[in-house]
Amino acid sequence: MKQKLLVTGGAGFIGSNFIRYVQNVSPQTEIINLDLLTYAGSLENLSNLPHPSNHQFIAGNICDQTLIEQTLQENNINTIVHFAAESHVDRSLEGPSAFIETNIVGTFSLLEAARKVWLVEKLFPLNDVLFHHISTDEVYGTLGPNDPAFQETTPYAPNSPYAASKASSDHLVRSYNHSFGLPITISNCSNNYGPYQFPEKLIPLMILNALTGKPLPIYGDGMQIRDWLYVEDHCEAIWTIIQNGSVGESYNIGGGNQPPNIEIVKKICGILDERDLPNTPHEKLITYVKDRPGHDRRYAMNIEKIHQELGWEPKHDLANGLRDTVDWYLDNTDWLNAIIKEKDYQQWVEINYQQRGRA
Ligand code: NAD
Ligand code: TYD
Repeated sequence: MKQKLLVTGGAGFIGSNFIRYVQNVSPQTEIINLDLLTYAGSLENLSNLPHPSNHQFIAGNICDQTLIEQTLQENNINTIVHFAAESHVDRSLEGPSAFIETNIVGTFSLLEAARKVWLVEKLFPLNDVLFHHISTDEVYGTLGPNDPAFQETTPYAPNSPYAASKASSDHLVRSYNHSFGLPITISNCSNNYGPYQFPEKLIPLMILNALTGKPLPIYGDGMQIRDWLYVEDHCEAIWTIIQNGSVGESYNIGGGNQPPNIEIVKKICGILDERDLPNTPHEKLITYVKDRPGHDRRYAMNIEKIHQELGWEPKHDLANGLRDTVDWYLDNTDWLNAIIKEKDYQQWVEINYQQRGRA
């Protein structure tokens, strides 16, 4: 049966990349994109879709169960791809309540809407529906230097309010499969980078600050490790799971790129130095600042399951992915300026960085 997608959070970083990816690989797929347009979401992220007529935007909150039910019914949605979330760890330390509301209550309301429309009203045969939940490696907690990478069977041990809210939503999704038979899949992915990422996260923040001659704030000793994945690879993995994944299963997704933060920032500086820009050498902007409380030291994903079962592996290596990302931001300064002007960006920078000072 033809898939008709409800994408939640499709005006955010990964959601908008996913919509563009699906329109490229499956132009006929119809997509309804429901997004609240919080500070992190923008219609600018959707400005140049390849097939705009197959994308419909609805401004709405995933916590509004009635709206979700209507959206599923009126549009004959048989596949939900759930990205919408509060996604920034530092913001979850400043104000956790939005994370509880959107990530936990919002996911619950989506699940309830799906249960009602798909399981009670039986809008479609059960084999034709799927709720795919997008989650993070942060649910597994932190690794020591010699620990093996996270597997799907690694016990959850979330350390930040963000990670705890995502862990909670994962458990709810799993339980709706186990208790009610809702067809679900879950993917837990490592840190993404690439075009359209809001410049509060490490890589776009460093590019923006370097371009404007501002300090490049490294938390703590800069030796924390993330498993970086180019966003298009994540989108491909999600699409692969939606097409061929086993119902009820979780899949870990990662990039196999695990240099410490300071090396990532130095690589970005090196790429910028090769362009004819002011503030060269950019490394002189690097500034060590007070660490994030409870900062997870290391993440790494074991991707054997998705590789063995579904044949997925990342296509982009870090060197090329970072180069493409830096060039995308250099070529899209209009987007960047619109994003940082439109939202509460300056306010967030003040809240998060002023109190950190230098380390
Ligand atoms: P993002 O912050 O860029 O985008 C989130 C989107 O959700 C925004 O468009 C926002 O407007 C929307 N949204 C927020 N609250 C909403 C609500 N109540 N109702 C409807 N829409 C709402 O996030 P992202 O980086 O694109 O992450 C997307 C998903 O992927 C999240 O679930 C996140 O936990 C997960 N994830 C992200 C990463 C990463 O590195 N960015 C890695 C692994 C998993
Ligand atoms: P971030 O992009 O916020 O993702 P996450 O916290 O989900 O991993 O941060 C990536 C890493 O970079 C993390 O170890 C924190 C660090 N970091 C800095 O050192 N300085 C910064 O200004 C930011 C935003 C992050």
